[in-house]
Amino acid sequence: MATKTRQILLHERPNGLPDKNTFAFKHIEIDSPAEGEVLLQMIYISVDPYMRGRMDDRESYVPPFPLHKPIAGGAIAKVLESRDDSLKEGDYVTGNLPWQQYVNVSASDVRKVQAEAAPVSAYLSAVGMPGLTAYFGTLSIGQPKQGETFVISGGAGAVGSLAGQIAKMQGARVVGIAGTDEKLDYMKSIGFDEVINYKTEDLTKAIKRTCPDKVDVYFDNVGGEMSDIVLDHLNKFARVVQCGAISTYNDPDNYGPRVQFKLIKSSALMKGFIIGDYADEFEEATKQLAAWVASGDLQYEETILTGFDRIPEAFIGLFTGRNTGKLLVDVSE
Ligand SMILES: NC(=O)c1ccc[n+]([C@@H]2O[C@H](COP(=O)([O-])OP(=O)(O)OC[C@H]3O[C@@H](n4cnc5c(N)ncnc54)[C@H](OP(=O)(O)O)[C@@H]3O)[C@@H](O)[C@H]2O)c1
Repeated sequence: MATKTRQILLHERPNGLPDKNTFAFKHIEIDSPAEGEVLLQMIYISVDPYMRGRMDDRESYVPPFPLHKPIAGGAIAKVLESRDDSLKEGDYVTGNLPWQQYVNVSASDVRKVQAEAAPVSAYLSAVGMPGLTAYFGTLSIGQPKQGETFVISGGAGAVGSLAGQIAKMQGARVVGIAGTDEKLDYMKSIGFDEVINYKTEDLTKAIKRTCPDKVDVYFDNVGGEMSDIVLDHLNKFARVVQCGAISTYNDPDNYGPRVQFKLIKSSALMKGFIIGDYADEFEEATKQLAAWVASGDLQYEETILTGFDRIPEAFIGLFTGRNTGKLLVDVSE
């Protein structure tokens, strides 16, 4: 039997911040799943900053989204009908799925999540990609040690809020940077030692105030001018975790720091990464993240908008600071 569904296509490549012209809604009908496929109902759609890069037509670590095709990204879905022995009706799965209410996919393209072990949305946040990014960025690259100062930009976001807590577990002093006083309160509530509102404080003065012994690890989610300033305060043998540069995604002229001398004078190490680099270790890290969530050692927050129509609004919200923790859209209705 055919199922009616809506989907969201990339209508036009954005020039700067995406707007409503970037997206187009379309109604389609899909057939019953074929042998080896499952019919999925989308439950949560994850909007992520890296998807902005895929809207441009340029070479990167993932190919650009094609124009006039559904945008796709991380999602949690429920199996409505299964034509594969590995999944049954009612199972929850995750995968890279189109912005579509219902879809048929090959069962091998999705992974079952343990809905009884954690709320399913957590597989897009604390025990999903943002959690893994925080885990490997902090532990494999940043390697904060007891008493060291760990500064994190985007500190109240999906990755930042988790990375700061993982650094605290290693005994570091954590300094979080974010853009509203409510986010500062949130960072304090999850144990950050010092917090900075980069929109209302002079960042140079704020770094001097909060990092009297300078910066040992800088976990950078933001890039641009903010990083220019933080990198002027690196301690000897500091580590810079280059996770993201969200301040530049809609503004290609925002080049950010010229790093050479900043690194030389502090003998610092700066390393970029893509979370897929650590795929071989995902299983073990996911178990650890789930254990920390279950024990309460790792707290997580989600900003959830409700309604399929609101996916574009949610995506744009990443760049206007709308979210504390992970930004998701509940599309289950
Ligand atoms: N390397 C990897 O494999 C990997 C994986 C996942 C994510 N990332 C990167 O990690 C970063 C964080 O990702 P996330 O999913 O956790 O996103 P997020 O931090 O939850 O969401 C975006 C937040 O960034 C801040 N922001 C937006 N524009 C800004 C600007 N111009 N200047 C300063 N802050 C700005 C906003 O908070 P404020 O209110 O504080 O401004 C906003 O709420 C992104 O750069 C992303 O691309 C990298």
